[in-house]
This record gives sequence, structure tokens and C-alpha cells, in this order.
Amino acid sequence: MLIPPSFLDELRDKVPLSTLIGRKVKLTRRGHEYTGLCPFHHEKTASFTINDEKGFYHCFGCGAHGDVIRYLTEAEKMPFMEAVEFLAGMAGIPMPKPTREQRQLEEQRTNLTAIMEEACRFFQSQLFGLGGEKAKKYLIKRGISGLVAKQFRLGYAPSGSALTQHLQAKGFDIRQCLKLGLVAKNQETGRVHDYFYDRVMFPILDRRRHVIGFGGRMMEKGEPKYLNSPETALFHKGEQLYALPNAIESIRKKNEAVLVEGYMDVIALHSAGFTNAVAPLGTALTENQIKILWQSCDEPLICFDGDGAGRKASVRAMYRALPILTPGKSLRFVSLPDPFDPDDMIRKKSPEAFAAVLSEARGFADMLWDDLVTAHPIDTPERQALFEKEIQETLAKIQDNRVRTYYQNDFKSRLWKQTHTRSKKQRKIVKSQPIHTPVIGSQDARMLMAYLILYPSAAEPVWDDIVATRFADKGMTDLLQDISSLMLEHAGEENSMLDYLTNEQRQLLNSELEMIQKSNRTVAEIQSIIGQMLREYHCRALQAEIDQKVKDYDAQPDPELWEQIKTLKEEIEVLKREGLA
Ligand code: UTP
Ligand code: MN
Repeated sequence: MLIPPSFLDELRDKVPLSTLIGRKVKLTRRGHEYTGLCPFHHEKTASFTINDEKGFYHCFGCGAHGDVIRYLTEAEKMPFMEAVEFLAGMAGIPMPKPTREQRQLEEQRTNLTAIMEEACRFFQSQLFGLGGEKAKKYLIKRGISGLVAKQFRLGYAPSGSALTQHLQAKGFDIRQCLKLGLVAKNQETGRVHDYFYDRVMFPILDRRRHVIGFGGRMMEKGEPKYLNSPETALFHKGEQLYALPNAIESIRKKNEAVLVEGYMDVIALHSAGFTNAVAPLGTALTENQIKILWQSCDEPLICFDGDGAGRKASVRAMYRALPILTPGKSLRFVSLPDPFDPDDMIRKKSPEAFAAVLSEARGFADMLWDDLVTAHPIDTPERQALFEKEIQETLAKIQDNRVRTYYQNDFKSRLWKQTHTRSKKQRKIVKSQPIHTPVIGSQDARMLMAYLILYPSAAEPVWDDIVATRFADKGMTDLLQDISSLMLEHAGEENSMLDYLTNEQRQLLNSELEMIQKSNRTVAEIQSIIGQMLREYHCRALQAEIDQKVKDYDAQPDPELWEQIKTLKEEIEVLKREGLA
């Protein structure tokens, strides 16, 4: 229940501190004040003083300081509500009555929490019961010990509707189970059944260790790999971090948190002694989650998967944090070798290897600078000016004045160095830099984006190729970033992602989307169209590289160069054959 502040003030007025503390400590009056031996630390001469008028105590020995409520909660270790009730008793005033609404909300929450707790216990008992053999074997195969399974309260959701029956038998209201996403309703028959079945269950606990949601992993290959509880009255994905209650102590002690992508990563890290690991819940990192981490440490480490998607997610997290950086609070970024995730690193390499990559984490400013530099060529004065403008606009997003000023100074000196070394090295760079990255023109880029949105599953096999291309148009590059994080968020969904676009994004691709929707093709056809498009651009990039090398060869014949040209030509041939197949 929420106690109104005015009621707390009334208690402070009505209960003299000297009376409250005088129950336990022998006090001597001195003018307006009382003194005595401090109840917060051991001492022989009195350095503890109480001022009833001002309503606070202060110890000159240990610095303890507070009012009636603080005294009870800290010296006598009473929980807050108990302290309030105790003081109300002393003052002879009744406790404030919660409003009906407050009472209902409170009751509802307790009820919902009880259901989730029961479900968690049920899943746990299933894992260790007769039906849990397969799930137990799966966990063993993934290197999870019984102890760790208990520590994380892992469980097993059996097939059928065992949980629904169990909860009904316990007398829980089935409508509430539906609202909590534990039970689902068949639209046609109207019958209820379990939401999770035949999955290994990962309960998600809030900071008070109340179960608020679940993630369930399939043991075979299939979609979705993880099924998560929907958003409910208890569960708000953007405001929670997986395993925070397990990790919080360690995060505080080390003043460091390791943020990874998945449940399995968290568990593997905790088992290997990295007890400060937590994860977001299958969605892109939110501002809220960053702030939660900052409450317990200064520079959390972002340690996403080493593949293209993981790197993109890191960059997105960086831009999410940029506006809210404050003095002393930042992020650092770990890059794992492609395509390892933290779990792979621990098991296929070693905990030491993982510790080594952690120790090479890069700072925020370095990451940001790199991201800006790689997106902007600065080989002409106009492009340099554009680059400078981009930097200014990016840094303007930092809300804290002090942090922004330091970034501006730092980036000014980086820019100076960059442009000065460039003019010296320019000739060399132009010659040795491969032009291998395919650059997709605006028209085709729009088509490609529209295909991705309408047929995300068709894009999966060629995703790495898509990420390895560049777009001539910056708007398209941004859009690709947004789409890739949408794909991550909605991984495994078959449907188009049209509904997740902003109006602006939809407008941008309007005619392409319409055209594709009208053409009504199969996923296989779309796949081959996308593949063909990427191959063509790849061929063009290779051809450009060959042309460049041929020119170099004409200027200065070099057998090694000729070998390179030959290899490139063969690569083109391979791509063309793939296109025909
Ligand atoms: P990953 O696919 O990287 O998971 O997704 P993982 O933890 O490495 O899984 P294993 O090792 O194959 O078991 C990272 C996270 O994204 C969310 C989950 O939170 C997962 O831990 N996710 C992934 C989903 O919510 N649904 C999915 O279908 C897939
Ligand atoms: Mn994994």
C-alpha cells in the first residue's frame, strides 16, 4: 500500500524521537538536545545526539543521521510498513485506509504473482519428475548442471494441458491465467490449453524475485526457437533484464555488468563465474534497461553475438544510449569473433578466452567514431565538410551539456588528425583499397527493402550478403538498420513486418510495396529474385575491382597482380554459374 507523505509527516510530528529512542538507549538532556551512547556503533563516550524540535538524530562518531522512520528501519531493522504501523500505534492515530482502487490493484497483483509462482514450481517439478527426462538430457547436453538449473529455477513445460489442469485444480481463476499468458484459448473450439508445451522453461524474475514471465525453448529445431510470455500486467519486457536478481550483488561489487543477448548466454556465463551477466528479453535494448544497469555500475559491457546481427544490435544500443549519457555513465563494447556467442566462447573456447575478449572492450567514443568514419568517405573537401556536419548533428543529440562538450572537443581533435593524415596517405589508400563492397543504387535498394519487409523469411539465407553490401542512399542504410532490428525482434514470425513500420517508412517504399504485393509471388521466387539482385551487384563490384587492377597492371606489370586479376575473374564465373543454377 502507498502511504501518503502527509501521513508520514504527521507521525514525525506526533512521536518525539527522544521517547522512541529512549525505549532502548539511556538519554541525558542537554538544553534542547539529548545525548547518549550511539545505537549504530559501539562507543564508550556519548557522541549521539537527538533534537526533538527538528525531528532528527545525529551521531558525531559514525555519522548516522535520520528521523523516526529511519531509526526503526535501520537501528531496529523493521520493515518500512511495520515501522509505520508501530509509530501510528505510539501516536494513537489510525493507519490511513487504502482507497478501494488501491486495494483492488494490490490484491490483483498478489493474486497474479501467486499464479506465476505456482506455474514456476509446476514447471520445476516437471523437469525433475518422470516426464522430464528429455529436457534434463537436453540441459546436460548444453552443459547446465542440476545446481545451476535450480539456481535459475529452470523447468519443463510438458505437452498437453497439464499446467492448465493443475492451476484449475488449485482453484486459480482461469481468466487470470489467460491474462498472464500461461493459458491460451482455441479460437474455434473455445477450449483452453497450455500456452507453453514441450519446452525448457526459463522463468523471468523481477528484482523482488517474483516470477513475472517465462521464456520457453524448443529442444528440436523449429520456430519459434524461444516462445516468450506476452506483455501482461506483471511483465513489461522493456523494463526488465533477465537474471538481474541473480547478478545484482556481483554487478555492484565489480562495478561492472556484462549484457549479453540470450538466456543461454547468461546461464553459461554465470556457470563459468561471470556472475554479473544479464540479458534483455529478446527485444532491442531500451533506454530503461540501460538506466537500470547504470543504477548499479558505471560502464556496463555490451557483449552481443559476434555475427552481423549482433554487431548491428551493438550499434543500435550505442545510439540508444547516446542521448542519455551523463558524467561518469557510459557503455563499453565487446566484440566476439564471428559467429560466436558468449555461450559458444565459454564452451568451445574457454572462460579465459572470454575474459580476454572482455578485457579488450572498446570505449563509447571509439565505437561512435568508428561508426561515423566507416559510413563517410572523406576523400574530397565536400565529403569532409559533410562528415563534419554529420559529427555535429550526431553529438548534438547528447543531452548532458558537460558530456556533449567533452565529446565535441574529443571529436574535433580526431577529425583534425584524420584529415591531416589523409592528405599524406591519400594516393596509397586509393590504390590499395579494395572496391569490393557492392554498392546498391537507390532504386534497387528500395525494391530490396520492400522484399525484406514483405517476405522476411526469404531474406534469412542471404542475410549475411545483404549486410555486407552498402547502399548509395543514406536513408536506405538507416532503414536497413531499422529493419534488421525488427527482424531480430520478431525472429521466427512468418508474417510480413509491414505493421511494424512507421508511416514515414511506409511512405518511402509505397510504390514498391504495392508492386510486390500485386505480383503475388511465392517465397521461393522471392528468394531467387533477391539472390539474383545481390549476385549482380557483387559481380559489378568485382568487375570494378578488376578494371582498377588492370589499370594498375598496365602502369606497372606485376605477376602477382595478374594472379589476383585471374582469381577475381574466376569468382565472377562462379557467381554467374550460381545464377544459372
Ligand atoms: P539467440 O538465438 O542468439 O539465442 O537469441 P541463444 O540464447 O543463443 O539460444 P541458444 O543458444 O540457441 O539456445 C537471443 C535471444 O533472443 C530471444 C531470446 O531471448 C534469446 O535468448 N529470442 C530468440 C526470442 O525471443 N525468440 C526466438 O525465437 C529467438
Ligand atoms: Mn546460443
